[in-house]
Amino acid sequence: MKWYKISNIQNRDKPFITKVKAGRKNICLVGFEGQVYALSSNCPHAGADLSDGLCVNGKIVCPYHRYTYNLVTGKGGEGQNDFVAIYPVNIKDDEIYVGISSFWDKLRGK
Ligand code: FES
Repeated sequence: MKWYKISNIQNRDKPFITKVKAGRKNICLVGFEGQVYALSSNCPHAGADLSDGLCVNGKIVCPYHRYTYNLVTGKGGEGQNDFVAIYPVNIKDDEIYVGISSFWDKLRGK
């Protein structure tokens, strides 16, 4: 797994939703109740940018059709039968890092 440092996140103490790049991935980075979560910014339903959505009760709400995705598991709301990719977040020396596994990492179970 490769860790990507995310720059330009200010006022992390307040809730935020922003789109960032980690390698070639577009990531929706969410600050919610003192934690930082990283998930794919691409809504699996019809491709909306989840970083334009809202965060309600620990779920990101898609701006297009209001589907919801759990920030921790990526699992879609009841009846959706879908999920969004989630990525590990590491905060070190007050910097945010997002971990991305390569295809080979996944094959090796890392
Ligand atoms: S595009 Fe996200 S819910 Fe439809």
